[in-house]
Amino acid sequence: MSVDSVLTAPAALAGPLTLVHAADDAPGWWRSAVIYQVYPRSFRDLNGDGVGDLAGITAELPQLAELDVDAVWLSPFYRSPQRDAGYDVSDYCDVDPLFGTLSDFDAMMAEATRLGLRLIVDLVPNHCSDQHTAFQAALAAPAGSPERDMFIFRDGRGDSGELPPNNWQSHFGGPAWTRITEPDGTPGQWYLHLFDSSQPDFNWDNDAVHAEFERVLRFWLDRGVSGFRVDVAHALVKAPGLPEWGGRADGNSSHGFPGHEAPMFGQPALHDIYRAWRRILAEYGPDRILCAEANVDPLPRLADWVRPDEMHQAFNFPYLHAGLDPHRMRSVITDSLTALDAVGAPSTWVLSNHDVVRHATRFGYNGPAPRDGDGIGPADAQPDEELGRSRAAAASMFMLGLPGGAYLYQGEELGLPDGIDIPDHKRQDPTFGRTGGERLGRDGCRVPLPWRAAEPHAGFGAGADPWLPQPASFTALARDTQAASPSSHLNLYRRMLELRRELRLGQGSLAWIEDWCTDSSLAFLNGSTAVLMNLGGDPLELPAGQVLLRSSTSAQHDGAHQLSSGETVWLEIYTEDTEN
Ligand code: GLC
Repeated sequence: MSVDSVLTAPAALAGPLTLVHAADDAPGWWRSAVIYQVYPRSFRDLNGDGVGDLAGITAELPQLAELDVDAVWLSPFYRSPQRDAGYDVSDYCDVDPLFGTLSDFDAMMAEATRLGLRLIVDLVPNHCSDQHTAFQAALAAPAGSPERDMFIFRDGRGDSGELPPNNWQSHFGGPAWTRITEPDGTPGQWYLHLFDSSQPDFNWDNDAVHAEFERVLRFWLDRGVSGFRVDVAHALVKAPGLPEWGGRADGNSSHGFPGHEAPMFGQPALHDIYRAWRRILAEYGPDRILCAEANVDPLPRLADWVRPDEMHQAFNFPYLHAGLDPHRMRSVITDSLTALDAVGAPSTWVLSNHDVVRHATRFGYNGPAPRDGDGIGPADAQPDEELGRSRAAAASMFMLGLPGGAYLYQGEELGLPDGIDIPDHKRQDPTFGRTGGERLGRDGCRVPLPWRAAEPHAGFGAGADPWLPQPASFTALARDTQAASPSSHLNLYRRMLELRRELRLGQGSLAWIEDWCTDSSLAFLNGSTAVLMNLGGDPLELPAGQVLLRSSTSAQHDGAHQLSSGETVWLEIYTEDTEN
């Protein structure tokens, strides 16, 4: 589609259009892909130990194929003491017995291939577990040794080295340094951990670290994965000299941070690491991808990460945090597409993941959710579940109309809320312990999924209680119940994903429909599909056009002529000169 044809407003749209992004038919499956995040601990427990496993994922992959997603990204299932739910890896090339074996992985890979689904695995290169053999070797070796140089060890400050080497704070609360006891029993050096003390940071100034991760990449590429989601990709390289940092140093992904100034984030040397990785992926053909979990502001800086010889895509956290404010949403979308178009990269869009309060819960508040990003507990103001779910459907429908790739988080297709009533002793996120319970952490969005209403634990697993308790509403929201109900959240997702593919919305264009962009609504044209969301408190008259889908399934069936508050519609706008 040429830019000019987009600018010719279809007859049904009398007012002006502002073109932001032209249709994109560049090759690359990921450019418009819908990628579904599986959190293995909480997906499906086949062996009955209360924690999900790879065999459980394999068993339910047909359900994801039926949902019509393109790929599945798996959070870590590697060997790990599970101090940070698997993001503390002790062996990058093996499966933790909690989840199964390498043969289970191969069976899962084979089933995914059979179903036409790609698998993307999580790579955690900033830090490992303190149980990793390399860190154990570093502890046993003297200061200044090559073993210690795999990590960031420094002498402490103060008369006897009793103070941490600098003032950096851990993402999970408390200092980012822990002092070790030397092999001779004396108090010794300190090591850096931007996250939990059980997660020592690697020293990316050391070539041996580069070589080790290149080996890990090849190990999983050889096993057939389509790529890697790179954990805290912005943090690997630290500024020379580890200068003090007066700002918020924990890089809390829910609040954003001034990444361009922080000495532990966004350092220029990172780009060469990702260029080297891209060359390795290219040896395996054009279809293997790298996706950065890079919480870098502002958007033009993020675009530097997805230049043609670096990563293929990056998560769009500004979009996740834009809430339901039409002006903020519009500016994030415009800025994302403009910045990424400048480097020829597609945008991605996301509303939920395993680190944030689910969007069905966030949107269940009028105003911001309490302690967004830090978890919601029984003592906090409670969300309106129904309101949250219907707004979540509308927000997802708006997102899935946008051109580019989209990431879904397991359970959002069921409209699941966060688990709120989690007893303190069940909470496992290290944030909870490291802040003395002040921040509840991320367990609420990690509650095990409901599959079959009539089975124990709503079909998550037939054995032990799930590792986190499921809210009472999970039974009614179980997948089998929803599959049987035409007006369910699940069936809306199925229809959205089917239509998105049919209409090629992921490869499409974006022009704001100015007359429909107000203080309380937001609308764009993608090809000949208009996407309109009512973000205000009052209903809107439905504009002319053929209704393709609306997020309120009851309205769909009643053929209501108004778009209610918190509802999205996809409309086909017929013209002779719109084509896609
Ligand atoms: C990323 C992960 C998060 C993990 C952290 C440390 O932000 O998404 O779950 O705790 O990195 O690895």
